[in-house]
Amino acid sequence: MAKTGKSVLLDCDPGIDDAVAILLGLASPEISFVGITTVAGNVDLGCTTENALRVAALGGGLDIPVYPGCPKAILGAPPPAAHVHGNDGLGGVRLEPGGMAQAEHGVQALLRIPGEVEDLSLVAIGPLTNLAVMLTQEPEVAGRIGRTVIMGGGIDGGNVTPAAEFNIHFDPEAARAVFESRLRPVLVPLDLTRKAAVYEDWIDRLRAVGTPVARSASGMMDFYLEAVRHRGLGMIIHDATALAVEIWPELFDVRPARIQIVTDHGPERGRTRVDFDSSEPNGSVAVDLDAPTFTARLFERLALL
Ligand code: BDR
Ligand code: CA
Repeated sequence: MAKTGKSVLLDCDPGIDDAVAILLGLASPEISFVGITTVAGNVDLGCTTENALRVAALGGGLDIPVYPGCPKAILGAPPPAAHVHGNDGLGGVRLEPGGMAQAEHGVQALLRIPGEVEDLSLVAIGPLTNLAVMLTQEPEVAGRIGRTVIMGGGIDGGNVTPAAEFNIHFDPEAARAVFESRLRPVLVPLDLTRKAAVYEDWIDRLRAVGTPVARSASGMMDFYLEAVRHRGLGMIIHDATALAVEIWPELFDVRPARIQIVTDHGPERGRTRVDFDSSEPNGSVAVDLDAPTFTARLFERLALL
């Protein structure tokens, strides 16, 4: 049966938590992916595109068009995050091949689709290179996008440097262009996603469901958990948390804010500055969520796929 629900265009760099986000989206009747664009980030563009195709096929979304976008950050890419996601971006979990990538460039798709789909939501869960190039080519596209949600940044510091979070640090110039545009995005920062980590027991329960999706997702999450164990962190499902803002908005507390990105080449590079008292907000920030309900619902959705 064709899916209905809110139309979502997903820009991503799978990536283990990106993969969980794709699976959550495919399992959720509240939204429907109209396309997936890929970008270099956690791994290179060839790999993020192949991973998006395979994860979509795993979740029953073989028909969702995947458009490869930008292969590097605007000023050239810093190292990817292979230590957290594995050299293949999916923690060494082998998935069956999916469909073919589209010939159309991701940025072209990002410019075209908002003119064709009413009330489109754009959810960006990787570095913001594709969005920045889209806005540079045609700033007016911002007016055709209903809502933009971005996973990135950290109010209380970063995860790649003390100042910066991965998606913003990978391409700060792009992030700055996006926050200075008319998109007025909802930012889902580390401070929020860290509240919704899952641990071994949750992952083991998922594995016990025994379906291909449950086995693959739990295998990827094992890798991630192991990679961050020395930092005392759980499996932080950053990107699925950001997508959940579109699926279950009632679980989130979102506040208007002025968001600025530091692009200096010093230790502050990539920092996200957030001012909740500004009289000129350029977006909003998800500051709290009902984490137990979110992780319970995520489990149910993944288990049923
Ligand atoms: C973000 O960085 C990436 O490694 C994850 O996929 C997520 O989008 C978290 O900082
Ligand atoms: Ca990501």
